[in-house]
Amino acid sequence: MSAERGSERSYMGATAEESWYGADIERVVVTEEQIRDRTAELAKQVAAEYGAVPGVLLVCVLKGAVMFMADFARALGRLGPPVELEFMAISSYGQGTTSSGVVRILKDLDRDIAARHVLVVEDIVDSGLTLSWLLRYLASRSPASVEVVTLFRKPDAVKVPVPVRFVGFDIPSEFVVGYGLDYAERYREMPYVGVLKPEVYARP
Ligand code: XMP
Ligand code: MG
Repeated sequence: MSAERGSERSYMGATAEESWYGADIERVVVTEEQIRDRTAELAKQVAAEYGAVPGVLLVCVLKGAVMFMADFARALGRLGPPVELEFMAISSYGQGTTSSGVVRILKDLDRDIAARHVLVVEDIVDSGLTLSWLLRYLASRSPASVEVVTLFRKPDAVKVPVPVRFVGFDIPSEFVVGYGLDYAERYREMPYVGVLKPEVYARP
């Protein structure tokens, strides 16, 4: 029993470098602390803008935004109006790591969003094609308002006319993993965001 507790302690106290994924990361792009601080700032901004509404319906796009949704919802909950959580799963047909804007719904909203204040919670806006489709889809369901909060935005996103009201970090146009973002479904559990070593992509 004492041995068990000991191993639990060392597991909980493990640093990112000691974790299995540490060896695969070439460079950290945004640290855990930066994510935490910026999430609190975004929540403050959103709470200020939504101060007068009766509630906000947060719509998370699975799976990438799940970590941000969980942390952002709690940060907003301390400051703002009541929130409700909704989840959608969509797949965008694309070539490898780029999206095409052709979208299929894998899991739809569970309820009506008519007359609701909807805030889409996104992990990352790259070309903006996926988001642009999603915003048209949500708008067709007659919400009172639709806005977007994204934790990350890449430079290409500014080329398309997608209104993203709240942005956490503008990051370079590189493929990143961590904090919900994956490569082949891995690295989502990393508490920070980073770039993988090139050799990781060469593995069978
Ligand atoms: P678009 O181009 O439509 O794409 O704005 C947005 C979606 O593409 C995924 N994406 C990434 N996923 N690391 C990832 O793990 C990245 O660097 C990255 N860039 C884009 C993501 O699913 C996002 O919602
Ligand atoms: Mg992905």
